[in-house]
Amino acid sequence: MTKPLKACVIGYPIKHSKSPLIHGSWIHDHGLEGSYEAIEIHSDNLENGIRNLIDQGYSGFSVTVPHKQTIMDLCDKIDEKAKTIGAVNTVIIKDGKLYGTNTDAFGFLENIKQKEPDFNFENISCVVLGAGGAARAVIYALQKAGVKEITLTNRTKERALDLQRMAPDLIRVEDWRDRNKLLKNKDFLVNTTSLGMQGQALLEIDLDALPQTALVNDIVYAPLMTDLLTQAKERGNKVVTGIGMLLHQARPAFELWTDIMPRVDQALEDQILK
Ligand SMILES: NC(=O)c1ccc[n+]([C@@H]2O[C@H](COP(=O)([O-])OP(=O)(O)OC[C@H]3O[C@@H](n4cnc5c(N)ncnc54)[C@H](OP(=O)(O)O)[C@@H]3O)[C@@H](O)[C@H]2O)c1
Repeated sequence: MTKPLKACVIGYPIKHSKSPLIHGSWIHDHGLEGSYEAIEIHSDNLENGIRNLIDQGYSGFSVTVPHKQTIMDLCDKIDEKAKTIGAVNTVIIKDGKLYGTNTDAFGFLENIKQKEPDFNFENISCVVLGAGGAARAVIYALQKAGVKEITLTNRTKERALDLQRMAPDLIRVEDWRDRNKLLKNKDFLVNTTSLGMQGQALLEIDLDALPQTALVNDIVYAPLMTDLLTQAKERGNKVVTGIGMLLHQARPAFELWTDIMPRVDQALEDQILK
């Protein structure tokens, strides 16, 4: 990298974002010059806000709520991943042009790989709870990882049916009220709903039908041990928390801007959770 890194995360609101801590830690660890800050941009001002970043010489930016879809209209080019997922969370600025990608699927898979390196996604049966924005990245990742089948269930069934179009041969949509019995004979369960998150209702689920050998992941990371993960752990399932997805999704963004692929370790996780 020749010039100092100048990057940021944009969103509204933005002050709770952990991204400046994550990227700041890597800038420091790699002895780089530069900055990564959080910039609040309201939806009404997105185009102007982005123009300012280009004018100020930013190398790129991360994108969070509520701009992950709307930023797509402002990008000059969007890669296949982001198009399929339907959201951009990382933008590179080059010669005044915006290149959009999505690193959430990478973050989801790398988190599981790091925490449960022996877990093999090939040919397994999965249950995905939720069909929101994050579910799209998770399903994209599961498809690329070679799973055998995905049972998808969401409170609003139409949204799940819409997501099913991403991989019609792989995804079976079931009613949300049947979620307990869908767990039978499954190898992997992931919660992508916001249920269980601080300030949200709990995820009501009975894990009795889930084999004890199944791996359980919750992408909600506040609290770190959600009620789902606590329940699963108590009955003997292996569990993976959601914080690693947040940390790992930042890695390809940092690499795109600096040519350095940073690492995620326990020290970084502890620092972010402080
Ligand atoms: N670890 C990470 O890096 C990471 C990354 C992205 C997101 N997340 C977390 O993942 C969660 C979802 O994010 P998102 O961006 O996908 O949000 P989203 O697009 O708003 O989707 C929310 C999902 O939760 C479901 N839901 C909300 N309230 C519900 C309720 N009372 N009963 C049943 N289902 C309910 C929604 O179902 P309906 O369709 O029926 O509304 C939908 O499936 C958030 O907690 C977010 O913090 C974590």
